[in-house]
Amino acid sequence: MKIVDVNTGRPYPIYIEHGIIGSAGKYIRERSDAVRAVIVSDSNVAPIYADRVENSLKENGFETSVFVFEAGEERKRLCTIEKMYSFFYEHDITRTDVLIALGGGVTGDMTGFAAASYLRGIDFVQIPTSLLSQVDSSVGGKTGVDLPVGKNLVGAFWQPILVLIDPDTLDTLPQKFFNDGMGEVIKYGCIKSPSLFKRLENENARDIIDDIIYECVTIKRDIVVNDERDTGERAILNFGHTFGHALEKLSGYSGMTHGEAVALGALMITGVTENKGITEIGTCDRIFNLLKKYDMPFKTEYSFEDIIKATRGDKKSTGKGLNFIFLREIGTCFINLIPFEKIEAFFET
Ligand SMILES: NC(=O)c1ccc[n+]([C@@H]2O[C@H](COP(=O)([O-])OP(=O)(O)OC[C@H]3O[C@@H](n4cnc5c(N)ncnc54)[C@H](O)[C@@H]3O)[C@@H](O)[C@H]2O)c1
Ligand SMILES: [Zn+2]
Repeated sequence: MKIVDVNTGRPYPIYIEHGIIGSAGKYIRERSDAVRAVIVSDSNVAPIYADRVENSLKENGFETSVFVFEAGEERKRLCTIEKMYSFFYEHDITRTDVLIALGGGVTGDMTGFAAASYLRGIDFVQIPTSLLSQVDSSVGGKTGVDLPVGKNLVGAFWQPILVLIDPDTLDTLPQKFFNDGMGEVIKYGCIKSPSLFKRLENENARDIIDDIIYECVTIKRDIVVNDERDTGERAILNFGHTFGHALEKLSGYSGMTHGEAVALGALMITGVTENKGITEIGTCDRIFNLLKKYDMPFKTEYSFEDIIKATRGDKKSTGKGLNFIFLREIGTCFINLIPFEKIEAFFET
């Protein structure tokens, strides 16, 4: 088993091991005296995995119940949270009980938010089952829901007490969502790990998935513990995201997955900075080849002007401008604030 310790305000460990969901109850019991445990899961994941987790919880003395919501980002809403609260109330959940997020990032974000807010805060455990949630969203304590006007606009920082990552769950994850996660994996290589990037170039991601998960989680851990509340360095995790969000917005959030948009955003921004002499020559080609290798889109129908326009109103903007993340070379990045009035001129060339 691989273990990554996360020393945030409330420290917790991440365990990575094949088949670990079958022993979830044992590891949760080591960290919780709860009488009751609620598994929160979506309509795709619950039928495949909830039984296994529930049996293991029962074996370890938890009284269990399962809350299932219909899968999809459209359900990451306050109305689903409200249904959860009612469910917890009906099942006599107290402040010393525990919630268990079993699923992808949607499940993790919502369960975390419900845990942060129900009875002013109860414990929760992350059992991420999608690649994106295993390498990214289950680590770092950002929780929340979407509003009709925008994604992730309501939420809280709330750390889990434990994260259990079972790479075997990826066997049932549809390829489309595997690629989605690969967009973030490529991002981690770009911002922090030349060796990870090289392995993605030379090997097949599925063959080295354990190492990939461990490496990404470690990178994210290091960034998050230095900047738990996202006021500084954590912004580098947004590499590729400014253009990525713009591409998602232009495609009406349906043409491309988030990870695909991020990977393409990474390619585009690096194209610009390489042209300007900020990034080492050849970096853009390497990203391009990786996108091709992993069947990610590497071009877009939208004009550069439209994409720049769509970055307006980006949630990551500060009062002064937009923070762009640039690469020096693969594995080295920095934050560059561009004032709003200078953005168009910067990208004109
Ligand atoms: N909190 C954070 O720091 C953070 C970071 C990145 C993304 N996110 C959020 O994460 C969400 C995206 O996460 P996601 O891509 O995991 O979405 P998701 O939870 O919707 O999962 C994607 C799809 O895969 C299915 N699925 C998941 N695991 C499966 C498995 N093992 N077998 C079969 N099907 C499975 C789900 O039912 C769903 O249909 C977004 O809402 C995003 O905002 C949060
Ligand atoms: Zn992302």
